[in-house]
Amino acid sequence: MMDMTSAGGPDYTDADFQTVQRIAQKEAGICLPDSKKTLVYSRVSRRVRELGLASFRTYLDFVQAPEGQDELEKFICVLTTNVTSFFREKNHFTHLKEFVVPRLAAKARAGGRGRLWSAACSTGQEPWSIAMSVMAAFPEASSHDVRILATDINSDVVAQAATGIYPEAEVEAIPAGKRAQFMEPCGGGDFRFTGGICRLPAFRVLNLNADWPIKGSFSAIFCRNVVIYFDEATRERLWRRLADRLEEGGFLYVGHSERVASKSECGLEQVAPTIYRKGH
Ligand SMILES: C[S@@+](CC[C@H](N)C(=O)[O-])C[C@H]1O[C@@H](n2cnc3c(N)ncnc32)[C@H](O)[C@@H]1O
Repeated sequence: MMDMTSAGGPDYTDADFQTVQRIAQKEAGICLPDSKKTLVYSRVSRRVRELGLASFRTYLDFVQAPEGQDELEKFICVLTTNVTSFFREKNHFTHLKEFVVPRLAAKARAGGRGRLWSAACSTGQEPWSIAMSVMAAFPEASSHDVRILATDINSDVVAQAATGIYPEAEVEAIPAGKRAQFMEPCGGGDFRFTGGICRLPAFRVLNLNADWPIKGSFSAIFCRNVVIYFDEATRERLWRRLADRLEEGGFLYVGHSERVASKSECGLEQVAPTIYRKGH
């Protein structure tokens, strides 16, 4: 590797990149291979400049200091991407509607709790898609004890998700019938979720690699397109922890390029390329 100092940009050395690798690993389980050195520069240098600092070294000292805890969250967030969309990987929502919602509805109608979890929800398209799938098959869901926990490490995206407001270009991915049923225009070409569906999602900030102050178990967990950043040991630990949070017969949905390696150890059985079921 070579040290870099782009014209007018903050100083950035190999030692700085190694510090970035160490902090990202320790704080969020994020594994940054050496090939990401330039990408890290382009993403983090913006924060260094915005804070008026001259070098990565000063910035990295700050994020490791007690007074830099808020910045540490921002630092972790610029290292990952928030790309998402409504009904991404449509087969997961078809599967959810067919195999999860009927059981969840029966349980909720009998007075029980129905819980689903979108575990790296980004700007919310995933949990809102789950909510639409639930409401489509179980229209009175919002008057029962049914909740969709929607969490992400990034407080900015969680706040955005909680507004339930999206621009027209995003909303086009939602089938017209569902859009008409669950959304209304709210000015400036934006649409917002409206009515009972808004009672389903509960948005929270949560680092998947820290403690989870979460009670109870889930009928299904969506943990998609997030473990791509984690090293093997962090992934395996996360799969085990998620499996522990699934009820017997519950499903785990993962991203299209993700796999649960130690299926037998976690008690998860693969039922489709990116869908796993707990137990038999
Ligand atoms: C590419 S988005 C995936 C969004 C959605 N699950 C999907 O598949 O469309 C990845 C999200 O993971 C979040 N993330 C990264 N590391 C995380 C961690 N340690 N704990 C929780 N969320 C994390 C990022 O903030 C980002 O919003």
